[in-house]
Amino acid sequence: MDKNLLIRKALEAKEKAYTPYSGFKVGAALITKSGKIYTGCNIENASYTPTICAERTAIAKAVSDGEREIVAIAVTGDSEWTYPCGVCRQVIREFGKDAIVIVAKSEEEYREYKLSELLPHSFGPEDLK
Ligand code: THU
Repeated sequence: MDKNLLIRKALEAKEKAYTPYSGFKVGAALITKSGKIYTGCNIENASYTPTICAERTAIAKAVSDGEREIVAIAVTGDSEWTYPCGVCRQVIREFGKDAIVIVAKSEEEYREYKLSELLPHSFGPEDLK
């Protein structure tokens, strides 16, 4: 898995963010088990609550394309270290119990986590079986 490529794609996706209200841009890029890469940016809304985060945009693109397993996801945003919000952690969990989460400042400076470190003792699909 090419981490630098994933970070580069997340940085590019961030430029597409639609953020007229917060001005805070976020980009994400994920790679699936089949090796496909999907990107996403945050998309805000005048009614505020329909806003979708960059991570969930990328996940929606992947899942609607038939993908079901996230291997890794890179996230980059306008704060020094932009971590996935709680809702996004839960949505990553749905399709990536063992996913690697890369929180990136740049291609050179990034931090790497297991999803299970960011969302310990999680609730997931297995609970409903
Ligand atoms: N945001 C993301 O895109 N991902 C996150 O994980 C954190 C927050 C976006 C949502 C909103 O457009 C802006 O950042 C400020 O909260």
